[in-house]
Amino acid sequence: VVEHNRRVIDQRENDFDRFAAAYNRKNERSPWNAYYERPAVLSLVGDVDGKGVLDAGCGAGAHAAALIERGARVTGIDASTGLLAIAAERLGDAADLHVADLAGVLPFADDTFDVVLVSLVMHYLQDWAPTLREFRRILLPGGLLVISTHHPFADHVLSAAEDYFATYQFDELWDVEDQQVRMRFWHRPLSAMTRAITDAGFRLRSVEEPQPGAALRDLNPQAWSRLSTGPAFVFFTGEAVADGAQ
Ligand SMILES: C[S@@+](CC[C@H](N)C(=O)[O-])C[C@H]1O[C@@H](n2cnc3c(N)ncnc32)[C@H](O)[C@@H]1O
Repeated sequence: VVEHNRRVIDQRENDFDRFAAAYNRKNERSPWNAYYERPAVLSLVGDVDGKGVLDAGCGAGAHAAALIERGARVTGIDASTGLLAIAAERLGDAADLHVADLAGVLPFADDTFDVVLVSLVMHYLQDWAPTLREFRRILLPGGLLVISTHHPFADHVLSAAEDYFATYQFDELWDVEDQQVRMRFWHRPLSAMTRAITDAGFRLRSVEEPQPGAALRDLNPQAWSRLSTGPAFVFFTGEAVADGAQ
């Protein structure tokens, strides 16, 4: 295939800093984000009025803005300084933003948050266990964990890998405005996801495969057809169990 008018900006994968502004513009409008993922997780998070919410992997802050509008006290963390700069511009003093690696120890005390929201981030992590243990530590007992991540069936079809039950990495090229960028994700089977969540000290409350918002049907029939007939993301909610109660 000869590519014209496009360039792979960098062979380094997952470099959100290199295309932060374009990614934010895409994320704002994309059917996958605006009409499917965001409405679904915000509905799963529920009433956040007066609650302390960590938006883990907050990117450019679209979820954080919606949570603040609903009365939450929001803290956002992300590895991308480029996306965090856009979030800071959008949110001003309304959110507490930090650069942090979700694979490491998180810069918060035990029992800090009522809710941890993790939108479309876990598929960047090789090992879910340390990150989920950190979420459990910084959540109050009884606190809510809400995760959206790539649906493993969708990734398995996309990657054409042989073994669904393996944990493996695969690449995808994303079209972001006039650029192509290389993304690299971790696939793991559904059972590995639910086991990691419960092993980290959460009671699994729900596993969801929601439909896109009805408005998408007229707005973008092609995206509606894809999202309403096949899995794209999978959504989990879990309750932080008090130590010794599991
Ligand atoms: C697909 S974007 C999702 C952003 C936002 N949650 C949303 O749904 O609009 C993935 C985000 O995860 C962040 N991310 C990926 N790996 C990370 C890590 N190890 N630590 C912190 N953030 C990470 C990226 O910087 C990026 O902002």
